[in-house]
Amino acid sequence: MSSSPVAQVHTNGTNGIKKNDRSNLIPYASRLKDGRALAQDVWSIYNAANLPADCINLGQGYMNFAPPVWVKEAAEEALNQVQTNHYSHPKGRLRLREAIKNFYGPQFGRELDVESEILVTSGANEGQYSVFVAFLEPGDEVIMFEPFFDQYLPSVTFNSGVPVYVPLHPQTSGDKPTSNDWVIDFDELRRAITPRTKMIIVNTPHNPVGKVFTREELEKIAALAEEHNLLVMADEVYDSLVFGDKEHVRIANLPGMWERTVTVSSAGKLFAATGWRVGWLVGPPSIIQPTLAATTRIVFCTNSPLQEAVAVGLEQAKARGFVDQQRREYEERRAILTEGFDRLGMKYIMPDGSYFVLLDISSVHWPEDYPFPQSVEGRGRDFKACWFIAMEIRVSSIPVSEFYCEEHRTIGESYARFAFCKDVDTLKHAVERLQGLRKYIKN
Ligand SMILES: Cc1ncc(COP(=O)(O)O)c(C=O)c1O
Repeated sequence: MSSSPVAQVHTNGTNGIKKNDRSNLIPYASRLKDGRALAQDVWSIYNAANLPADCINLGQGYMNFAPPVWVKEAAEEALNQVQTNHYSHPKGRLRLREAIKNFYGPQFGRELDVESEILVTSGANEGQYSVFVAFLEPGDEVIMFEPFFDQYLPSVTFNSGVPVYVPLHPQTSGDKPTSNDWVIDFDELRRAITPRTKMIIVNTPHNPVGKVFTREELEKIAALAEEHNLLVMADEVYDSLVFGDKEHVRIANLPGMWERTVTVSSAGKLFAATGWRVGWLVGPPSIIQPTLAATTRIVFCTNSPLQEAVAVGLEQAKARGFVDQQRREYEERRAILTEGFDRLGMKYIMPDGSYFVLLDISSVHWPEDYPFPQSVEGRGRDFKACWFIAMEIRVSSIPVSEFYCEEHRTIGESYARFAFCKDVDTLKHAVERLQGLRKYIKN
């Protein structure tokens, strides 16, 4: 994600405005104060503008390579036609919905209805936002596992929902911890459920841990959802990036779960096109139809030419062996980064999915008088570590405590998130630079 424009908004509201000061005449809505919408977010702190010009960006989770040529060509072709430059149906272009049906139908083990069970949205983000609009009453609680994708928080609070945080617990005492070692305490999860709980968000494969939730974990979550009548938001935007012999289990496919689950996908992740803002939701008509009503009044429809291009992507992906090839490429990228950390002798969380590695930065020590900017003061230790690494080693990463509530932030403070959705040369270069960390490691 890029930097947040709202970070620039003046925060002094109406009170205290000096006479003749016309810079802040109109008070903004108080909802902006919730959900950290006005706080300076990590994306704007560890932004290229603040870091050395030659810093290698492994912080932000977008690719430094283009979408596949054949998908780009389809976009160009769509731009050269008249109809595909105009409004689409709010449900999404029929060609794309058909392509989603054919691509995902077998994965859900059902014939998806393009009219009532598929909804194209402006990225996964807007799809998720529209679900909150459609389903949250003021005060409804939404459970999210920490660390959580930061966009969930304002999306919930803008819609008068109340976030409830349940941390994944790293049981990572061994030498070679993996994302699977981050576990749910099911008693804690059960305690977090109240009569106001409406939804639970399950992100698998997980950003930023890389965890691929096991069937057993998902079955337990499903049982709780059934017991308490919860809507499940299955954020599966990294479903094509599951490594080794790990199995991506769709919670929607577990017995009785289809009717209460909305599954979220992103063409941005699948086709290295995060700026295209095309995503989609799959679920039962009882969830998709209210969400359609919401999205229609938010964006009306998603951009048309790129929907056509994504349709071509899905239509041709199988025949081209695209998903398998892409997965192999990401496995190679993961290996470059993790072997670099191995050489350094640093501990990290080996991800089973998605494109992030959490590096344990508790052994990194900087000089006591190192000059840090105000923006990282008073935040977790990881904020300083990421700043120090970016300035001295010239590789940027993201502090993981950002993805926690205040109460739980110490769990994340030991980690920096490195994204490996970058080309091989960039990653090799970054790994060479990261060897420079050796002189700052004290075990
Ligand atoms: C877990 C998760 N969900 C949703 C999104 C949003 O995806 P999109 O770019 O399609 O809106 C992201 C993007 O980083 C993500 O990491």
